[in-house]
Amino acid sequence: MTLTITVAAPSSTANLGPGFDVFGLAVNAFYDEITLTKTKTKGVIIVAEDDIPTNPDKNTAGLVVKNMIKKFKTKDGIEIKIKKNVPAGYGMGSSAASAAAAAVAFDKLYKLKLDENLLVEFAGTGEKASAGSIHYDNVAASVLGGFVIVKTDPLDIIKIDPPSNLRMVIAVPRLKVPKRKTKVSRSAIPKKISLTSSTKNLSNATAIVVGFMNKDPELIGKSIKDMIVEPARKHMIPGFSKVKENALKAGAYGVTISGAGPSVIAFSKSSQDLKKISQAMTKGFESAKLECQTIICKPSIGAKIKT
Ligand code: HSE
Repeated sequence: MTLTITVAAPSSTANLGPGFDVFGLAVNAFYDEITLTKTKTKGVIIVAEDDIPTNPDKNTAGLVVKNMIKKFKTKDGIEIKIKKNVPAGYGMGSSAASAAAAAVAFDKLYKLKLDENLLVEFAGTGEKASAGSIHYDNVAASVLGGFVIVKTDPLDIIKIDPPSNLRMVIAVPRLKVPKRKTKVSRSAIPKKISLTSSTKNLSNATAIVVGFMNKDPELIGKSIKDMIVEPARKHMIPGFSKVKENALKAGAYGVTISGAGPSVIAFSKSSQDLKKISQAMTKGFESAKLECQTIICKPSIGAKIKT
């Protein structure tokens, strides 16, 4: 009988410009690790070294496990050990990585063999703890890996394997982020948009999908253009315009906000000078007197049992 299991799930970038709440890409920058152990004492206990909520109702992994216990009427108590590596609140899919790892771990622990859409749906219930609403772009990427398209009503995740030479440079600014940052930055998005913006975004989003299908990093990067969400959020990221301009000048194909920010992500390919792009982004943030950590990364596989 399995008593304990550890699953690692990757960080992710959501939106990729025009694909707000629809596109997600798993990236190998960081991995959260969740260990679930069956206990004799009923209830859910969270053990975490880092400064994260240990109340299961306020913790993404805790919420997922509680929901799954309820749904599958399992009888044991569960201890959740969280090793948090994805920086929280920076647009790298931190809450989603823990939620995805928790859902996949629970599935394995009880040998439920849930299909991918159901796993994503359960992982999505954890997002509510941090974003205030459920959105599936990050969790879908973290569960499945690669590039994902979130189709809803009913939830149906489409996965495409990214080009093997696709590379990203992510700049994470050292910036104090507001509590419940995703909720705050979602409230900045306009409720109404013009037909022109919608048409441009649709055209670029479609081209991104074709870029992934044709394994074409240049088409992907050059289509990372967002007329709707980026303009409404960029004021929250000091130096954003300079970071973007610098990265494009250094050869990046496209640059945008990673998820709800404040990290900025540049798209490129392995044969390009990625260090040059990373230095250009650092200089961009310096213009706003901000330090940043840059990570050169590539697409990741999804949540996986750690052996
Ligand atoms: N699509 C979401 C947003 C991702 O941009 O608000 C948040 O992680």
